[in-house]
Amino acid sequence: MLELNGVNTYYGNSHVLHDVSLRLEAGETVALLGRNGVGKTTTMRTIMGLTPARRGQIRFKGTDIVRWKPYQVARAGIGFVPEERWIFPSLTVHQNLLIGLKSEADAHTQGPGLWTLERCYEAFPLLKKRQHAKGRTLSGGEQQMLAIARTLVGNPELILIDEPTEGLAPKIVDMVAGIIRDIGRQGMTVLLVEQKLSIVMELAERIYVISKGMIQWHGTPGELRNNEAIRKSYLEV
Ligand SMILES: Nc1ncnc2c1ncn2[C@@H]1O[C@H](COP(=O)(O)OP(=O)(O)O)[C@@H](O)[C@H]1O
Ligand SMILES: [Mg+2]
Repeated sequence: MLELNGVNTYYGNSHVLHDVSLRLEAGETVALLGRNGVGKTTTMRTIMGLTPARRGQIRFKGTDIVRWKPYQVARAGIGFVPEERWIFPSLTVHQNLLIGLKSEADAHTQGPGLWTLERCYEAFPLLKKRQHAKGRTLSGGEQQMLAIARTLVGNPELILIDEPTEGLAPKIVDMVAGIIRDIGRQGMTVLLVEQKLSIVMELAERIYVISKGMIQWHGTPGELRNNEAIRKSYLEV
């Protein structure tokens, strides 16, 4: 589904990603793990074309998308749920959701597995209850659910989710993790950045560990559990 090959990304003269290579098969949930400031968000921004790679290849379903603009990447079927959530504060929950639709027709198009507004409200009853509330009045958990729901109504084939549980209360963390688990089980391909190791162990089928902009290790949750050296070097504080 997605393949990065020798990707190098810079902010000005600052070289942040060094030959990053990773791949996601269709239907997989893959986690990108690492400490703060190692390049996880930059990897997602690079895939989306928000901070384009200076060298390397990014293939999505076999097509090289490395020079594509963010709107082209989104239209091709990659959704992004950014760490900052990008909720419009003066728009209602419902209006924020409408922004996620790629066309007006998408709102009610039926099809197996398609995310309509109705299905979003079913999956996120809290959002339904708050559909007329302004973005600025939402709690952190509600904002995160709205950010995920807004990306889902664009019906991406691959969704990139950056630190979805950061700063949320434990009960809400469980709820958001459950939503991501359901999305994955329903067949969507997921690339997840998440600091809570327990969530990654539960949700991810494979894990990449990144440090200083370089992929240092990859394997399954079971392999990471048994690899204290990798955890100590790159994950635990
Ligand atoms: N807009 C930016 N301009 C310059 N440097 C940046 C910018 N965004 C991030 N960086 C730097 O790039 C590195 C990787 O950041 P980031 O990808 O956000 O890390 P992570 O998501 O793993 O915490 C850090 O050293 C950070 O300071
Ligand atoms: Mg980040």
